[in-house]
Amino acid sequence: MANEKEPRDETKLVSGGRDPEANFGIVNPPVYHASTVLAPTLAAWRTRDFMNDIVYGRVGTPTQRALEEAVALVEGGDRAIATASGLGAITVALTSFTKTGDHILMTDSAYFPARAFCNNVLAKYGVETSFYDPRIGGGIAELIRDNTTIVYTETPGSLTFEMQDIPAIAEAAHARGAIVMHDNTWGTPLFLKSFEKGIDVSIHAATKYIVGHSDAMLGVLVTKNEHFETLFKGFRSSGQHAAPDDCYLALRGLRTMGVRLKQHQENALTLARWLEGRPEIGQVLYPALESHPGHDLWKRDFLGSTGLFSVILDRHYDDDALGAMLDHMDLFAMGASWGGYESLILPGAPPRTATNWDPAGTLLRLHVGLEHSDDLIADLDAAFARLKAAT
Ligand SMILES: Cc1ncc(COP(=O)(O)O)c(C=O)c1O
Repeated sequence: MANEKEPRDETKLVSGGRDPEANFGIVNPPVYHASTVLAPTLAAWRTRDFMNDIVYGRVGTPTQRALEEAVALVEGGDRAIATASGLGAITVALTSFTKTGDHILMTDSAYFPARAFCNNVLAKYGVETSFYDPRIGGGIAELIRDNTTIVYTETPGSLTFEMQDIPAIAEAAHARGAIVMHDNTWGTPLFLKSFEKGIDVSIHAATKYIVGHSDAMLGVLVTKNEHFETLFKGFRSSGQHAAPDDCYLALRGLRTMGVRLKQHQENALTLARWLEGRPEIGQVLYPALESHPGHDLWKRDFLGSTGLFSVILDRHYDDDALGAMLDHMDLFAMGASWGGYESLILPGAPPRTATNWDPAGTLLRLHVGLEHSDDLIADLDAAFARLKAAT
């Protein structure tokens, strides 16, 4: 039975990490800028606790700790660590749990720079990565080796949107002593409760929905006490620093993440359904749609869906035609990242090695923002007319 005293997520989003009494009654945890932090005595200097106290700006300020506390609270982890970027969080997580001779299993649908870090950096240090079909489920057991230390997941993949059976993967990984990492940027701490699904380290590009306004870069790692020290050691050795101003912006963004996500979800679903009926569309890759092959997994594991999805057009279009479509949009703009209030659209081609990705048409990834869905539909409608006129 649910604990009646346990606050709901909406309440946690609003109250997590706040400590007005320690800050002159100020509601929002203030921005503490710091490098040097003075020790009052030699004994205090000698016994500095980097993991729990504020001892040096690079390793954490009160602003950073407030953000970490709030994100961990919402997701249901014990502790969190903020990093300079989402990719910074990924590299800290991967390096913290590997040594020369180890093996990583990474989903073929992983965010491309995570994949590149494994292939281009970890490989130089004798850590081998092999890629697996995201839809493998419990079949991952056959790929786990004695030296596999990490099974890395991303559900849904943020370009191709395959859903992964995380509990089945986690069961197989844990049976062989490997830990499960998950890039939870799409699910957010609100919509995928990582630790109830068997995930050990949850990775967020806070740059996206947590910051929510496309104006700061930040990563957050969330974990249980069992793995915190290992993760913290990796973080501390990495030189990663979460800038206090950006932590403040992320914490400010977090307060409204719940209401923003409701609107992202509603708009995305409206557009996804509209797109499904368009002749220019071959397939809509949005897990919240009943037609999505991973819909049942999404329904089982997620508490909501967000604003990012892809479509496969009815055929492959060259850049002249795509340019005619995309160059003149009023609301959808082209740019990296997602999770802000604004709508974005980009063509994409995922690099694959474990699975065959050969769609019948061009992939376009949309981030559906907070504009009115009728206006977004009108923008897409006009874009399709330009696409057809150009072909
Ligand atoms: C799924 C996913 N993970 C991680 C990242 C990396 O985040 P950042 O840009 O903050 O380094 C991104 C960025 O686009 C992303 O889409």
